[in-house]
Amino acid sequence: MKTIAYQQCINPTCSATFDIGQVLTSCAKCGELLDIQYDWSKAPLPKSLDAFQQRWQSRRFPLDYSGVWRFRELLPFAADAMVCTVGEGQTFLQNAVCLGKELGMWPGQLWLQYEGMNPSGSFKDNGMTAAFTHARIVGARRVACASTGNTSASLALYAAMNGFQGVVFIGSGKIAFGKLSQALDYGALTLQIEGDFDTCLARVRQVSSQLGLYLMNSVNPFRLEGQKTIMYRILESLSWQPPDWIIVPGGNLGNCSAFGKAFHELRQLGLIKRIPRLAIINAEGANTLYSMVHAGISWNGGHVNQAAIDGFYADMDRRQLHAHTVASAIEIGRPVNLKKALRSLDVMKGVVAQVSDNDILEAKAMVGRFGFACEPASAATIAGLRQLLANGTISRHERVACVLTGHGLKDPDATVYYHTGVRTKEAKYPPAEPTWGHLANKPIRVADDLQAIIRSLGLDEKSIDQDVAGGYVETSRELPFIEY
Ligand code: F0G
Repeated sequence: MKTIAYQQCINPTCSATFDIGQVLTSCAKCGELLDIQYDWSKAPLPKSLDAFQQRWQSRRFPLDYSGVWRFRELLPFAADAMVCTVGEGQTFLQNAVCLGKELGMWPGQLWLQYEGMNPSGSFKDNGMTAAFTHARIVGARRVACASTGNTSASLALYAAMNGFQGVVFIGSGKIAFGKLSQALDYGALTLQIEGDFDTCLARVRQVSSQLGLYLMNSVNPFRLEGQKTIMYRILESLSWQPPDWIIVPGGNLGNCSAFGKAFHELRQLGLIKRIPRLAIINAEGANTLYSMVHAGISWNGGHVNQAAIDGFYADMDRRQLHAHTVASAIEIGRPVNLKKALRSLDVMKGVVAQVSDNDILEAKAMVGRFGFACEPASAATIAGLRQLLANGTISRHERVACVLTGHGLKDPDATVYYHTGVRTKEAKYPPAEPTWGHLANKPIRVADDLQAIIRSLGLDEKSIDQDVAGGYVETSRELPFIEY
């Protein structure tokens, strides 16, 4: 295949390269992760990032409409005709003034990259469009993934729209119903495996290589090429001025890996001068990256201490430790992109924090209270930001972009439980008080009676205009909204 793109092992002592026509999810020589690399000297690159803005003029053309492919010169592995796009990446950076104020930040410094607005409701579509494009290039017909929910939803959507057969492996534990319903609706063959996400992923990797299914998990390096564009859109929204910090939840660690690669390449190409810092947020109950980094494991120029990693996992097995968090999307104990995440931490002078389930749900409610519905995993960013502001890692005056990875409607159970204490039969959240948080907004039971409704609105009966027949109720009192 004649192209400027190739696959390359991330292990510097191996660095083997492979044609992009090969379907690989690890180095065929040493088993390490693979990157997609380019011979940039042959790439038709723009002189400055500004040039990409011209694509807004030609949005009728699907590749220019896509928030991924309008940056195609920065992921040049496919001919235009091969691209599988469903209009992903129509997401942008929102200035979260009220939320920033609530967190004690300087006005205007908190930004939210709302990836829940993608066609399948999560950031996964950025990567899926790229991996499906590669699948089309190599002539694959059947595609598969293991998933905590969003990958399977996205895979199922792209398979349905582009004529592939989708197979998804989900664990028997938690999957938010919003996500499961998508996989079912889009017609993916859905296999529920006994075990958690880590078990499912190990199984689907084996099944894919033995049965020739094209693997769509983020161990597929083409996925990450698409996810780089989340960073391009953040830069574009800030007139190509990098923020001080990017904050992202860490699960299988694909996103943070893609972000580090995006910034490394942009600097290498002379398209930006400064790289933002990175904060990856783990849930306390799924904190492999946090634990390893705090035990001193680092990228170390690519010479990662494999024995320390093996020892860590052996210890997890001995103690029968499994990931467990309310943020089911990031309930992952053995993140496949671990080494690439360590590399991103190196490139972006990153930090890793861990946050409790309670902090995640409080942060989620706070995000929701200011009008951005996100799922628990996404809110880990805000819980992490809060912690990093409190311990002085991030300053109040710094500009911060948090990636809200998935839409709030993905996991309504988590939201309803927070507000009411009521959980559905299927939800397996840790037992807790009937209502969790200080922002709990419980529905009020009220009789079908005007006086009862007036009382529950907190209105004074005497100040009500008696002429309520037309539906006009006057009051001297404000409704009891929470003031920030
Ligand atoms: N946020 C959401 C909403 C997710 O669905 C995921 C991962 C992450 C964050 C973590 O991202 O893996 O790149 O570190 N969900 C995967 C899935 C694992 O199967 O849907 P990551």
